[in-house]
Amino acid sequence: MATQIQSKRLESKVRSYCRRLNDEFSTASGALISTKQGRTLIDFLSGCGSLNYGHNDRDMKEALVDYVTGDGVTLSLDFHSVAKTAFMRSFQERVLQPRSLDYVMQFTGPTGTNAVEAAIKLARKKTGRNTVVAFSNGFHGCTLGALSLTANDYYRQSSRELLVGVERMSYDGDSGSSDYSADSIEALFDNPSSGVEPPAAFVFECVQGEGGLNTASAEWAQKIQAIARKYQALVIVDEIQTGCGRTGSFFAFEQLGIEPDMVTLAKSLSGYGLPMAMLLLKPELDVWATGEHNGTFRGNNHAFVTAAVALEKFWSDSTFERSVRNKSEQITYVLNSLSEQFDLQVKGRGMMMGLSFDEPELCAKSIAQCYEQGVVVESSGPNDEVLKVMPPLTIDQNELAKGLEIISRSVGLAMTEALSAAETKACAQVR
Ligand SMILES: Cc1ncc(COP(=O)(O)O)c(C=O)c1O
Repeated sequence: MATQIQSKRLESKVRSYCRRLNDEFSTASGALISTKQGRTLIDFLSGCGSLNYGHNDRDMKEALVDYVTGDGVTLSLDFHSVAKTAFMRSFQERVLQPRSLDYVMQFTGPTGTNAVEAAIKLARKKTGRNTVVAFSNGFHGCTLGALSLTANDYYRQSSRELLVGVERMSYDGDSGSSDYSADSIEALFDNPSSGVEPPAAFVFECVQGEGGLNTASAEWAQKIQAIARKYQALVIVDEIQTGCGRTGSFFAFEQLGIEPDMVTLAKSLSGYGLPMAMLLLKPELDVWATGEHNGTFRGNNHAFVTAAVALEKFWSDSTFERSVRNKSEQITYVLNSLSEQFDLQVKGRGMMMGLSFDEPELCAKSIAQCYEQGVVVESSGPNDEVLKVMPPLTIDQNELAKGLEIISRSVGLAMTEALSAAETKACAQVR
């Protein structure tokens, strides 16, 4: 308790997750995370998609320890390094080649938002256009360039006037918009009097992680790509949260039948929770001048080491992808039955699923109850109304079943309490 009071005084008010998870965590392994007091919880948040392979994977840890004890170079700016070369070879062999994808790898500063910055800058440089189209409910990071693409006003309010160069359009199926079809987007560009000029790029997530787990259909994504091609604009897919298998394939866009011009990756790329981000770009877009987008920490060799192990361990064949799809079915089954019972909406794809509540307080209550009972989950969506179910992709069947059971119980408790409170109120009004 004393430590928590001291931390509150020392850490800025901007802290967020630790407000709800009011414990000090000390150790973690696989899907489990333990507090200093020795309470162990099942982690269904996975570092918000940064721990797809769980906490402290044994093989990645061993490789990292060997590298560190062998005095492997830690910081090397963007020098060639043995660790970087091994990672690039592995990524080419295990991810790009099998999918017939031709991309150059750019290592940006180690956060997702920096990869997004690089993508926007490059799109502008290549096309000579300023505007980028971003979509309702999109989240792309919190540095100024990326924040101009992020839709949620909560994040935008502090710098609103500086968030320029973005045309906002409706994401696929956005229920808050009157016309959200890709056809209506095309009509805007086709109309010489709409006042909307062709952009440098269209930027979107295939599943909106922070925006409420809205999913883009293949039809919508293909249409956006076709509009981009028609108007010589680029397609940038933000795979920072959806990437590295989260939706059931290495990239979420694979399931939509599109081939983006640029792809941003971060979060689970290092495999071990180490900071690492990368922009994939088509070779013909590589018009950067030397060092034009740089950053001291582009060469995080420790991340290269663990990332290469992750690729070898999970992406050498299709076994892992199949297991993700099986677990996704298990999650979907449980969420569907909660949806039927309590009239909630199931959202998401793969192992990036959730339940949308009409009343955000009931989502918050369910999350608090999950935490009480031993599962870490978080919310997303414009009003924090979606309970997000994102266990590590490597979670074992028993832990997955146990976590889902706790979620079912917690949601059941929150919903039945709310229903009986509503009934009591109705009875009192009748009397
Ligand atoms: C889709 C997406 N893009 C970008 C970001 C920003 O990444 P980072 O927090 O590493 O800057 C996030 C973070 O949640 C994200 O989900």
